[in-house]
Amino acid sequence: MWNEETLNAMLSEPSEKLIADMARLEGDIMILGAGGKMGPTLSVMAKRASGAAGKNRHVYAVSRFSDPCAAELLRREGVEMLPVDLNDENQLANLPKAPNIVYMLGKKFGTSGNAGDTWHTNVVMPGMITRRLGAVNYVVFSTGNVYPFTDPALGGCHEEDSPAPVGEYAMSTWGRERVFEYAARNYGAKVLLFRLNYAIDLRYGVLLDLAEQVLNGRPIRLDVPRFNCVWQRYANEAALRSLLHVSTEVERLNVTGPEAGVTRDVARKLAAELGREVTFEGGEGEKAMLMNPAKCMDWFGKPDKSLDDLIHMQAEWLKAGGRRLGKPTHFEETEGKF
Ligand SMILES: NC(=O)c1ccc[n+]([C@@H]2O[C@H](COP(=O)([O-])OP(=O)(O)OC[C@H]3O[C@@H](n4cnc5c(N)ncnc54)[C@H](OP(=O)(O)O)[C@@H]3O)[C@@H](O)[C@H]2O)c1
Repeated sequence: MWNEETLNAMLSEPSEKLIADMARLEGDIMILGAGGKMGPTLSVMAKRASGAAGKNRHVYAVSRFSDPCAAELLRREGVEMLPVDLNDENQLANLPKAPNIVYMLGKKFGTSGNAGDTWHTNVVMPGMITRRLGAVNYVVFSTGNVYPFTDPALGGCHEEDSPAPVGEYAMSTWGRERVFEYAARNYGAKVLLFRLNYAIDLRYGVLLDLAEQVLNGRPIRLDVPRFNCVWQRYANEAALRSLLHVSTEVERLNVTGPEAGVTRDVARKLAAELGREVTFEGGEGEKAMLMNPAKCMDWFGKPDKSLDDLIHMQAEWLKAGGRRLGKPTHFEETEGKF
């Protein structure tokens, strides 16, 4: 049952609610940074949902397409691929007009040692792109890293809580949010800041990170005692449905699953599924980067997979020899150094 084709099909499957929303949405959709870990299945979902809604719209996937697997999926599914370096003003000038933008561009890893690159991608490029595109609708992928670490007993940060990003990557993502606020105020853009942590796709994600440590017999650090995660199908769908919630007042939405994972318990469950022993090192930290997703649950309902479902699926994926992207989340990082 577990192969790449079925996984991509699951991650891009639209629900009836998404199809209804895609029928209401006016105009084409353009996904910027579509060639990364989430963009391919999100783009295919947008195309499938629009087709099922009877909408004859363009879904443009814009990226440099440095990952051939991403490009292959999009090509096979008939998504319109635009190979563009969004850092190039001339190429930016030639983008087609589309009123609905899913903004997925970002840089996290490699910030330590080359922070200038991260600030450029996360802050300067949004400035270039928003100035070029003007009064369009944006769902802007952001992150829970904008929030401070908190006591898990408090139930996670809410959208109206003040950001307090830790480290340069997190600071630059707050900077990205500020640039989109500027675009809303000055260019008439309608914006929703989509604060996501952490998508589970099985080929990467927090559960894979923990499972790999179990399989390699490495002790698991508990500095971060809890973590947020969510099935990537749900995150993809929430992003597309969010296109109907954008506002010049700038909306903010925490996007994650309703159950925060307890690192120790999740590692034990993965070990049991994988038939391995698990060991831990160090004491359990007192704070974690956690979001409260109540608003997202209210708007879009609960994810179709529980945390236990995801743990089981992750173990099955590994037992079936499923591909791993080799892109760890470093969710256990407490000082914001990526
Ligand atoms: N995945 C998660 O769990 C998660 C969690 C929190 C936040 N986020 C944020 O959500 C967004 C999407 O997530 P993701 O995991 O799909 O990110 P990702 O894997 O980093 O994908 C973003 C893609 O943007 C493209 N890009 C970068 N520079 C570009 C340029 N100059 N011109 C055109 N395209 C460019 C890259 O693809 P090409 O090489 O093809 O250009 C890159 O793979 C990111 O901003 C990420 O930080 C993700």
